[in-house]
This record gives sequence, C-alpha cells and structure tokens, in this order.
Amino acid sequence: MTAAPLFEVRAAGKVFGGRPAIADLSFSVCRGEFLAVLGPSGAGKTTLFRCLAGLIPMDSGQALLSGADVAGFKGRQRRRIAVVFQQFNLVNRLSALDNVLAGRLGYVPAWRGWLRRFERADVLLALECLERVGLLAQASQRADTLSGGQQQRVAIARALAQRAELIIADEPVASVDPHIGAGILELLRSICHAQQDGLAVICSLHQPHFAKQFADRVVGLVDGRIVLDVAGADFDEASLQHVYGQTASPAQTPDGRQATLASASALA
Ligand SMILES: Nc1ncnc2c1ncn2[C@@H]1O[C@H](COP(=O)(O)OP(=O)(O)OP(=O)(O)O)[C@@H](O)[C@H]1O
Ligand SMILES: [Mg+2]
Repeated sequence: MTAAPLFEVRAAGKVFGGRPAIADLSFSVCRGEFLAVLGPSGAGKTTLFRCLAGLIPMDSGQALLSGADVAGFKGRQRRRIAVVFQQFNLVNRLSALDNVLAGRLGYVPAWRGWLRRFERADVLLALECLERVGLLAQASQRADTLSGGQQQRVAIARALAQRAELIIADEPVASVDPHIGAGILELLRSICHAQQDGLAVICSLHQPHFAKQFADRVVGLVDGRIVLDVAGADFDEASLQHVYGQTASPAQTPDGRQATLASASALA
C-alpha cells in the first residue's frame, strides 16, 4: 500500500426528491486496499457507488481517481473504474470469454467490438483473466449456463481485462450461497492485494462477518452519512451496533435473523 490515495471522495452528496440519499461523504482508498461498506437497507450504498462510478452525477462534492475528477471521464477513461453488480450483468447469450472480452471494448477500435474480432493479445489477456478467476475450462460456455458464483467470477475477470484501477462491487455476494460468497470475496481480496494490478476494491456487503474477515477497512453508512471507519480487524460487536443499532429496524442476516457478528459467522 502506498501513502497517496488512489481514490478520494470529497464531500459527496446526492439528493432525490428533496431528500439526501448521501450527504457530505468523504473517505479515501489506497492501492491494494479492500474497503468494505456496510449499512442498513436504504443507507445509500448503491447511490454512493453509482455516483463514484460516474453512472449518475453527484449533486455536490467530487470523486478523484489519482487526482483526476471522475465526473470528467470520457470514453476510455471511464474504464479505469469497473463495477461488479449483485446480478452479474453479463450478456447471457455470449460465452464466458466473449463477456470478458467486453472488458476490452473501449480499448479496441469500435468495429472490432461490433464484429467481435479481437486482436490475439486481447484474447490472450481475456483467457489469462479467466484463468485467474479459475474459469479457463469454462471459457466457451454460455454465460447463462454458468452458476451464479461462476457468473460473478466472469464479471470479475471482465473487470480485470478492463485493466481497471478501481473495482466497485455492489453486494457482489448477495446472490450466491455463503460458501461461494466467501470464495468470491477471497478472490477480490487476492486481486486487490496482488502487486501486479495495483488496484483497490470498494465493496458493499450485508454480511458484517465477511467485512471483518476480508476487508482491510470497514466504513459504516447510516442515512447517507459515514458513522464508522475502522480497520477490518477492529470491527467488533460495538461497531456492528454503531452501524445497525441506530436504525429503527434491526440489522438482519440474509435469512432474516438479527445480525450479530457471531450469528452471522455461523452462516458462512
Ligand atoms: N433513483 C432514485 N430516485 C429516488 N430515490 C432514490 C433513487 N435511488 C435511490 N433512492 C433512495 O435513496 C436512498 C438510498 O438508496 P440506496 O439504494 O442507495 O440504498 P442501499 O444502501 O443501497 O440499500 P440496499 O442495502 O437495500 O441496497 C433510499 O431512500 C432510496 O429510496
Ligand atoms: Mg443497494
């Protein structure tokens, strides 16, 4: 990890219908850092991520990637940030390899993308990315025949092929079972910590024990504001109550039980 932040969020704000979804949010992430964002439903995690990825404009504040304002990113620059979604967002009828090659769109001439005629180097890179996520054998398999966990790995391979510097993952393990989810977070963490890529991961989760287990740092969001920013190892029951205890409805595990670090761990 280097001292200079890779990504810096300054006083980010977004209002919907007069109500702030996120307000005055500031934090930064270094290369090699895995940052987990926790918070109850409606806390503003997805809104924050959509703003950070440039999918929707912020109403106030800035997000800077290596000092450059994300709001001004056009074309190829937008590829510097990759987004991994809960529902994978693959093209179902295309193979795993073609989905990963989609990460190269923006780097190759448009006609190559339309005809799906990629250079040998791009195909090799895509295959290498599939190998890194453990899916080389599934390269030619249609995306919609892959399991949910495999589809999420393809989405991560696509982010790698994109040569993204920052991966923003919104609940990447919400649609898979806890065992597969742990494998995906382990993969994201290993990519994040790999010196060769020098990237960072910002990942929202609804499983506090996963945040503690995998994240270098945990940020807690309540009502659009940061209420907690601690090292993953220091995230404890008091942190959990701080994030989820302030809301009218109690924090719940995916199966509907009230979340504690102990009860949530039992799910893994
Ligand atoms: N396009 C929109 N129009 C109006 N309100 C919105 C819009 N998107 C989000 N909101 C509101 O902003 C608030 C934050 O929503 P957001 O989806 O960011 O929460 P979240 O933390 O991601 O929740 P969850 O954990 O359930 O995914 C909510 O009150 C939501 O209704
Ligand atoms: Mg959300």
